[in-house]
Amino acid sequence: MPSQAITDLHLEDLPGIKPIELSKLKRIGVESVLELATSIPQDLAEDTGDKVESMSILIVRARKALASIGLLSKEFCTAADIMTRRNQIMRCSTGSKSLDGLLGGGIETQALTEFAGEFGSGKSQLCHTLSVIANIPKENGGLGGNVIFIDTENTFRPERVHQIAQAYGITDPEEILSSIFVCKIYNSSHLEFVIKNLAKYLEEFRACIVIIDSVISLHRAEFSGRETLWDRQQKLNLMLHRLTRLAEVYNIAFVLTNQVQSNPDTTFASDPMKVAGGNILAHATTYRIFFRKAGRNRIAVMQDSPYHEYGSVKFTISAKGIVDTEDTDKDTRNIESG
Ligand SMILES: Nc1ncnc2c1ncn2[C@@H]1O[C@H](COP(=O)(O)OP(=O)(O)OP(=O)(O)O)[C@@H](O)[C@H]1O
Ligand SMILES: [Mg+2]
Repeated sequence: MPSQAITDLHLEDLPGIKPIELSKLKRIGVESVLELATSIPQDLAEDTGDKVESMSILIVRARKALASIGLLSKEFCTAADIMTRRNQIMRCSTGSKSLDGLLGGGIETQALTEFAGEFGSGKSQLCHTLSVIANIPKENGGLGGNVIFIDTENTFRPERVHQIAQAYGITDPEEILSSIFVCKIYNSSHLEFVIKNLAKYLEEFRACIVIIDSVISLHRAEFSGRETLWDRQQKLNLMLHRLTRLAEVYNIAFVLTNQVQSNPDTTFASDPMKVAGGNILAHATTYRIFFRKAGRNRIAVMQDSPYHEYGSVKFTISAKGIVDTEDTDKDTRNIESG
Protein backbone atom coordinates (compact mmCIF):
# COMPACT_ATOMS: atom_id res chain seq x y z
CA MET A 1 0.00 0.00 0.00
CA PRO A 2 1.43 3.43 -0.81
CA SER A 3 2.63 5.16 2.33
CA GLN A 4 1.58 8.69 3.19
CA ALA A 5 5.06 9.96 2.28
CA ILE A 6 4.83 8.83 -1.35
CA THR A 7 1.26 9.81 -2.01
CA ASP A 8 2.21 13.29 -0.71
CA LEU A 9 4.91 13.65 -3.34
CA HIS A 10 3.28 16.11 -5.75
CA LEU A 11 4.32 16.76 -9.32
CA GLU A 12 5.06 20.37 -8.33
CA ASP A 13 7.82 19.01 -6.05
CA LEU A 14 9.62 17.32 -8.92
CA PRO A 15 12.98 19.11 -9.35
CA GLY A 16 13.21 21.04 -12.63
CA ILE A 17 9.66 20.45 -13.84
CA LYS A 18 8.47 23.34 -16.05
CA PRO A 19 5.02 24.90 -15.61
CA ILE A 20 4.08 23.91 -19.19
CA GLU A 21 5.02 20.27 -18.52
CA LEU A 22 3.10 20.38 -15.27
CA SER A 23 -0.07 21.67 -16.90
CA LYS A 24 0.17 19.16 -19.77
CA LEU A 25 0.53 16.26 -17.36
CA LYS A 26 -2.37 17.47 -15.22
CA ARG A 27 -4.51 17.94 -18.34
CA ILE A 28 -4.08 14.26 -19.23
CA GLY A 29 -4.82 13.24 -15.63
CA VAL A 30 -1.30 12.52 -14.30
CA GLU A 31 -1.46 13.94 -10.77
CA SER A 32 1.43 12.51 -8.80
CA VAL A 33 5.12 11.64 -9.07
CA LEU A 34 4.17 8.00 -8.53
CA GLU A 35 1.80 8.01 -11.48
CA LEU A 36 4.41 9.66 -13.65
CA ALA A 37 7.08 7.16 -12.57
CA THR A 38 4.85 4.23 -13.55
CA SER A 39 3.80 5.70 -16.91
CA ILE A 40 4.94 4.48 -20.30
CA PRO A 41 6.66 7.20 -22.46
CA GLN A 42 4.67 6.26 -25.59
CA ASP A 43 1.34 6.68 -23.70
CA LEU A 44 2.28 10.11 -22.38
CA ALA A 45 3.53 11.22 -25.81
CA GLU A 46 0.29 10.10 -27.42
CA ASP A 47 -1.87 11.83 -24.81
CA THR A 48 0.09 15.10 -24.58
CA GLY A 49 1.17 15.35 -28.23
CA ASP A 50 4.80 15.74 -27.07
CA LYS A 51 7.85 13.73 -28.14
CA VAL A 52 8.47 10.27 -26.65
CA GLU A 53 12.02 11.40 -25.72
CA SER A 54 10.86 14.35 -23.62
CA MET A 55 8.32 12.15 -21.86
CA SER A 56 11.04 9.57 -21.14
CA ILE A 57 13.14 12.31 -19.51
CA LEU A 58 10.24 13.30 -17.26
CA ILE A 59 9.64 9.68 -16.26
CA VAL A 60 13.33 9.19 -15.47
CA ARG A 61 13.23 12.32 -13.27
CA ALA A 62 10.19 10.98 -11.43
CA ARG A 63 11.91 7.64 -10.87
CA LYS A 64 15.04 9.45 -9.60
CA ALA A 65 12.89 11.43 -7.16
CA LEU A 66 11.45 8.18 -5.82
CA ALA A 67 14.91 6.59 -5.69
CA SER A 68 16.20 9.57 -3.66
CA ILE A 69 13.70 8.74 -0.91
CA GLY A 70 14.45 5.02 -1.06
CA LEU A 71 11.30 3.97 -2.91
CA LEU A 72 13.05 2.69 -6.00
CA SER A 73 16.48 1.39 -6.76
CA LYS A 74 18.81 3.88 -8.44
CA GLU A 75 20.30 3.07 -11.89
CA PHE A 76 23.30 1.66 -10.10
CA CYS A 77 23.08 0.71 -6.47
CA THR A 78 24.66 -1.82 -4.24
CA ALA A 79 23.19 -5.24 -3.62
CA ALA A 80 22.73 -4.02 -0.03
CA ASP A 81 20.47 -1.19 -1.31
CA ILE A 82 18.37 -3.69 -3.24
CA MET A 83 18.20 -5.84 -0.12
CA THR A 84 16.90 -2.85 1.87
CA ARG A 85 14.10 -2.39 -0.68
CA ARG A 86 13.37 -6.12 -0.71
CA ASN A 87 13.15 -6.05 3.08
CA GLN A 88 9.99 -3.97 2.61
CA ILE A 89 8.34 -6.92 0.81
CA MET A 90 5.22 -8.17 2.60
CA ARG A 91 3.74 -11.63 2.21
CA CYS A 92 0.10 -12.64 2.12
CA SER A 93 -0.90 -16.14 3.13
CA THR A 94 -2.85 -18.22 0.61
CA GLY A 95 -4.75 -20.06 3.36
CA SER A 96 -2.61 -23.19 2.92
CA LYS A 97 0.66 -23.51 4.83
CA SER A 98 1.98 -25.91 2.20
CA LEU A 99 1.26 -23.49 -0.64
CA ASP A 100 2.74 -20.62 1.42
CA GLY A 101 5.84 -22.76 1.90
CA LEU A 102 6.14 -23.32 -1.85
CA LEU A 103 5.98 -19.53 -2.27
CA GLY A 104 8.59 -18.87 0.43
CA GLY A 105 6.04 -17.56 2.95
CA GLY A 106 3.11 -16.39 0.81
CA ILE A 107 2.30 -14.10 -2.10
CA GLU A 108 4.93 -11.35 -2.27
CA THR A 109 4.50 -7.66 -2.83
CA GLN A 110 6.80 -6.09 -5.50
CA ALA A 111 6.07 -9.13 -7.70
CA LEU A 112 3.69 -10.60 -10.26
CA THR A 113 2.60 -14.08 -9.21
CA GLU A 114 0.87 -16.13 -11.87
CA PHE A 115 -1.29 -19.19 -11.18
CA ALA A 116 -1.93 -21.29 -14.25
CA GLY A 117 -4.04 -24.40 -14.43
CA GLU A 118 -6.85 -26.35 -15.99
CA PHE A 119 -10.53 -25.55 -15.34
CA GLY A 120 -11.69 -26.27 -11.82
CA SER A 121 -8.12 -26.44 -10.49
CA GLY A 122 -8.76 -23.73 -7.88
CA LYS A 123 -7.46 -20.51 -9.46
CA SER A 124 -10.61 -18.48 -8.81
CA GLN A 125 -11.00 -20.09 -5.38
CA LEU A 126 -7.51 -18.86 -4.51
CA CYS A 127 -8.46 -15.36 -5.71
CA HIS A 128 -11.52 -15.34 -3.43
CA THR A 129 -9.49 -16.65 -0.48
CA LEU A 130 -6.81 -13.98 -1.00
CA SER A 131 -9.50 -11.26 -1.10
CA VAL A 132 -10.37 -12.21 2.47
CA ILE A 133 -6.88 -12.91 3.83
CA ALA A 134 -5.41 -9.66 2.40
CA ASN A 135 -7.72 -7.78 4.78
CA ILE A 136 -6.40 -9.61 7.84
CA PRO A 137 -3.64 -7.79 9.79
CA LYS A 138 -0.03 -8.44 8.74
CA GLU A 139 0.83 -10.18 12.01
CA ASN A 140 -1.85 -12.79 11.23
CA GLY A 141 -0.67 -13.54 7.70
CA GLY A 142 -2.55 -10.88 5.74
CA LEU A 143 -1.53 -7.52 4.30
CA GLY A 144 -3.91 -5.44 6.39
CA GLY A 145 -5.34 -3.55 3.41
CA ASN A 146 -7.87 -3.29 0.64
CA VAL A 147 -8.17 -5.40 -2.49
CA ILE A 148 -8.71 -4.60 -6.16
CA PHE A 149 -10.35 -7.55 -7.92
CA ILE A 150 -10.38 -7.41 -11.71
CA ASP A 151 -12.86 -9.98 -12.97
CA THR A 152 -12.65 -10.77 -16.67
CA GLU A 153 -14.67 -13.99 -16.59
CA ASN A 154 -17.62 -12.90 -14.46
CA THR A 155 -16.81 -15.52 -11.85
CA PHE A 156 -16.35 -13.24 -8.82
CA ARG A 157 -18.97 -14.13 -6.18
CA PRO A 158 -19.39 -11.94 -3.06
CA GLU A 159 -21.33 -14.82 -1.45
CA ARG A 160 -18.19 -16.97 -1.62
CA VAL A 161 -16.09 -14.17 -0.05
CA HIS A 162 -18.71 -13.92 2.70
CA GLN A 163 -18.58 -17.69 3.31
CA ILE A 164 -14.76 -17.69 3.48
CA ALA A 165 -14.76 -14.66 5.82
CA GLN A 166 -17.21 -16.45 8.13
CA ALA A 167 -15.05 -19.59 8.06
CA TYR A 168 -12.14 -17.38 9.20
CA GLY A 169 -14.26 -16.26 12.16
CA ILE A 170 -14.41 -12.66 10.94
CA THR A 171 -17.15 -11.02 12.97
CA ASP A 172 -18.22 -8.58 10.31
CA PRO A 173 -17.93 -10.17 6.83
CA GLU A 174 -19.82 -7.17 5.39
CA GLU A 175 -16.82 -5.02 6.25
CA ILE A 176 -14.60 -7.31 4.16
CA LEU A 177 -17.03 -7.02 1.24
CA SER A 178 -16.76 -3.22 1.45
CA SER A 179 -12.98 -3.37 1.23
CA ILE A 180 -12.87 -5.35 -2.04
CA PHE A 181 -13.14 -3.09 -5.09
CA VAL A 182 -14.34 -5.20 -8.00
CA CYS A 183 -14.09 -4.20 -11.64
CA LYS A 184 -15.97 -6.36 -14.12
CA ILE A 185 -14.22 -6.24 -17.47
CA TYR A 186 -16.19 -6.57 -20.69
CA ASN A 187 -13.50 -6.63 -23.38
CA SER A 188 -9.72 -6.54 -23.88
CA SER A 189 -9.66 -2.76 -24.51
CA HIS A 190 -11.51 -2.21 -21.25
CA LEU A 191 -8.88 -4.27 -19.41
CA GLU A 192 -6.07 -2.27 -21.06
CA PHE A 193 -7.80 0.98 -20.07
CA VAL A 194 -8.21 -0.09 -16.42
CA ILE A 195 -4.58 -1.20 -16.21
CA LYS A 196 -3.40 2.04 -17.80
CA ASN A 197 -5.23 3.95 -15.03
CA LEU A 198 -4.45 1.53 -12.23
CA ALA A 199 -2.11 3.89 -10.36
CA LYS A 200 -5.09 6.18 -9.69
CA TYR A 201 -7.26 3.32 -8.46
CA LEU A 202 -4.46 2.02 -6.22
CA GLU A 203 -4.25 5.40 -4.53
CA GLU A 204 -8.01 5.93 -4.38
CA PHE A 205 -8.77 2.51 -2.89
CA ARG A 206 -5.51 2.20 -0.93
CA ALA A 207 -5.14 -1.34 -2.23
CA CYS A 208 -2.35 -3.67 -1.17
CA ILE A 209 -3.12 -6.43 -3.66
CA VAL A 210 -4.51 -6.53 -7.19
CA ILE A 211 -6.05 -9.78 -8.38
CA ILE A 212 -6.70 -10.31 -12.09
CA ASP A 213 -8.84 -13.39 -12.79
CA SER A 214 -7.95 -14.10 -15.56
CA VAL A 215 -5.32 -12.01 -17.25
CA ILE A 216 -5.36 -12.95 -20.91
CA SER A 217 -8.61 -14.79 -21.64
CA LEU A 218 -10.17 -11.77 -23.36
CA HIS A 219 -7.11 -11.10 -25.50
CA ARG A 220 -7.00 -14.77 -26.45
CA ALA A 221 -10.64 -14.74 -27.47
CA GLU A 222 -10.47 -11.47 -29.40
CA PHE A 223 -7.11 -11.92 -31.13
CA SER A 224 -7.39 -15.50 -32.24
CA GLY A 225 -6.00 -15.46 -35.80
CA ARG A 226 -2.29 -15.87 -36.52
CA GLU A 227 -2.20 -12.49 -38.25
CA THR A 228 -3.34 -10.77 -35.04
CA LEU A 229 -1.00 -12.70 -32.75
CA TRP A 230 1.78 -10.12 -32.93
CA ASP A 231 -0.69 -7.35 -32.09
CA ARG A 232 -2.02 -9.32 -29.13
CA GLN A 233 1.46 -10.06 -27.78
CA GLN A 234 2.37 -6.35 -28.01
CA LYS A 235 -0.72 -5.38 -26.05
CA LEU A 236 -0.05 -8.04 -23.44
CA ASN A 237 3.56 -6.97 -23.19
CA LEU A 238 2.56 -3.37 -22.51
CA MET A 239 -0.01 -4.38 -19.86
CA LEU A 240 2.42 -6.63 -18.03
CA HIS A 241 5.16 -4.03 -18.23
CA ARG A 242 2.82 -1.57 -16.49
CA LEU A 243 1.93 -4.11 -13.80
CA THR A 244 5.61 -4.79 -13.08
CA ARG A 245 6.29 -1.07 -12.59
CA LEU A 246 3.26 -0.63 -10.34
CA ALA A 247 4.18 -3.64 -8.18
CA GLU A 248 7.68 -2.26 -7.70
CA VAL A 249 6.81 1.38 -7.02
CA TYR A 250 3.70 0.82 -4.87
CA ASN A 251 5.06 -2.24 -3.03
CA ILE A 252 1.88 -4.19 -3.75
CA ALA A 253 1.17 -7.76 -4.79
CA PHE A 254 -0.22 -8.76 -8.16
CA VAL A 255 -1.92 -12.11 -8.57
CA LEU A 256 -2.75 -13.17 -12.11
CA THR A 257 -4.54 -16.32 -13.16
CA ASN A 258 -4.05 -17.94 -16.50
CA GLN A 259 -5.49 -20.82 -18.43
CA VAL A 260 -3.77 -23.78 -19.95
CA GLN A 261 -4.39 -24.87 -23.51
CA SER A 262 -3.68 -28.15 -25.20
CA ASN A 263 -0.20 -28.31 -26.62
CA PRO A 264 -0.38 -29.01 -30.37
CA ASP A 265 3.17 -30.37 -30.28
CA THR A 266 2.25 -33.50 -28.36
CA THR A 267 4.74 -35.67 -30.19
CA PHE A 268 7.74 -34.29 -28.31
CA ALA A 269 6.19 -32.27 -25.48
CA SER A 270 6.31 -33.97 -22.11
CA ASP A 271 3.18 -32.10 -21.05
CA PRO A 272 0.08 -32.17 -23.25
CA MET A 273 -1.07 -28.87 -21.68
CA LYS A 274 0.73 -25.54 -22.01
CA VAL A 275 0.21 -22.20 -20.35
CA ALA A 276 -1.47 -19.53 -22.47
CA GLY A 277 0.27 -16.27 -23.36
CA GLY A 278 3.53 -17.61 -24.74
CA ASN A 279 6.93 -16.17 -23.87
CA ILE A 280 5.60 -12.69 -23.13
CA LEU A 281 3.71 -13.85 -20.07
CA ALA A 282 6.34 -16.37 -19.04
CA HIS A 283 9.02 -13.66 -18.99
CA ALA A 284 6.92 -10.90 -17.44
CA THR A 285 5.64 -12.71 -14.38
CA THR A 286 8.00 -13.10 -11.43
CA TYR A 287 6.66 -16.45 -10.25
CA ARG A 288 4.62 -19.03 -12.12
CA ILE A 289 2.79 -21.74 -10.22
CA PHE A 290 0.92 -24.49 -11.99
CA PHE A 291 -2.22 -26.03 -10.47
CA ARG A 292 -3.56 -29.42 -11.37
CA LYS A 293 -6.36 -31.61 -10.11
CA ALA A 294 -5.69 -34.83 -8.22
CA GLY A 295 -9.05 -36.22 -7.15
CA ARG A 296 -10.42 -33.98 -4.42
CA ASN A 297 -6.96 -32.54 -3.83
CA ARG A 298 -4.95 -30.12 -5.93
CA ILE A 299 -1.22 -30.11 -6.69
CA ALA A 300 0.69 -26.83 -6.99
CA VAL A 301 4.03 -26.87 -8.81
CA MET A 302 6.53 -23.99 -8.71
CA GLN A 303 7.41 -23.69 -12.40
CA ASP A 304 9.41 -20.54 -12.67
CA SER A 305 11.06 -18.42 -10.03
CA PRO A 306 14.29 -16.41 -9.71
CA TYR A 307 14.99 -17.90 -6.28
CA HIS A 308 12.51 -20.58 -5.19
CA GLU A 309 13.37 -24.23 -5.52
CA TYR A 310 11.45 -26.28 -8.01
CA GLY A 311 8.92 -28.14 -5.91
CA SER A 312 5.34 -29.23 -5.53
CA VAL A 313 2.79 -29.35 -2.70
CA LYS A 314 -0.74 -30.58 -2.13
CA PHE A 315 -3.70 -28.47 -1.02
CA THR A 316 -7.46 -28.62 -1.25
CA ILE A 317 -10.57 -26.43 -1.44
CA SER A 318 -13.11 -26.22 1.38
CA ALA A 319 -15.74 -23.81 2.71
CA LYS A 320 -12.72 -21.84 4.06
CA GLY A 321 -11.32 -21.48 0.52
CA ILE A 322 -7.80 -22.77 -0.12
CA VAL A 323 -6.64 -24.98 2.77
CA ASP A 324 -4.09 -27.65 3.60
CA THR A 325 -5.19 -31.21 2.93
CA GLU A 326 -4.63 -32.09 6.64
CA ASP A 327 -7.13 -29.38 7.62
CA THR A 328 -9.91 -31.01 5.63
CA ASP A 329 -8.84 -34.46 6.85
CA LYS A 330 -9.18 -33.06 10.40
CA ASP A 331 -12.54 -31.45 9.53
CA THR A 332 -13.77 -34.76 8.13
CA ARG A 333 -12.56 -36.58 11.27
CA ASN A 334 -14.37 -34.02 13.44
CA ILE A 335 -17.55 -34.40 11.44
CA GLU A 336 -17.23 -38.18 11.53
CA SER A 337 -16.52 -38.30 15.28
CA GLY A 338 -19.13 -35.63 16.08
N1 LIG B 1 -17.73 -23.67 -1.19
C1 LIG B 1 -16.89 -24.58 -1.70
N2 LIG B 1 -16.43 -25.58 -0.93
C2 LIG B 1 -15.58 -26.51 -1.43
N3 LIG B 1 -15.16 -26.51 -2.71
C3 LIG B 1 -15.59 -25.53 -3.51
C4 LIG B 1 -16.46 -24.52 -3.06
N4 LIG B 1 -16.72 -23.68 -4.09
C5 LIG B 1 -16.02 -24.16 -5.15
N5 LIG B 1 -15.36 -25.27 -4.81
C6 LIG B 1 -14.52 -26.12 -5.70
O1 LIG B 1 -13.69 -25.28 -6.48
C7 LIG B 1 -13.52 -25.87 -7.77
C8 LIG B 1 -13.59 -24.79 -8.81
O2 LIG B 1 -12.41 -24.07 -8.70
P1 LIG B 1 -12.18 -22.71 -9.47
O3 LIG B 1 -13.45 -22.08 -9.81
O4 LIG B 1 -11.22 -21.95 -8.64
O5 LIG B 1 -11.50 -23.23 -10.79
P2 LIG B 1 -10.62 -22.39 -11.82
O6 LIG B 1 -9.24 -22.94 -11.73
O7 LIG B 1 -10.80 -20.96 -11.58
O8 LIG B 1 -11.28 -22.86 -13.19
P3 LIG B 1 -11.55 -22.04 -14.55
O9 LIG B 1 -10.32 -22.22 -15.39
O10 LIG B 1 -12.74 -22.72 -15.13
O11 LIG B 1 -11.83 -20.62 -14.19
C9 LIG B 1 -14.62 -26.86 -7.97
O12 LIG B 1 -14.00 -28.13 -8.12
C10 LIG B 1 -15.41 -26.85 -6.69
O13 LIG B 1 -15.57 -28.13 -6.25
MG1 LIG C 1 -11.74 -19.41 -12.63
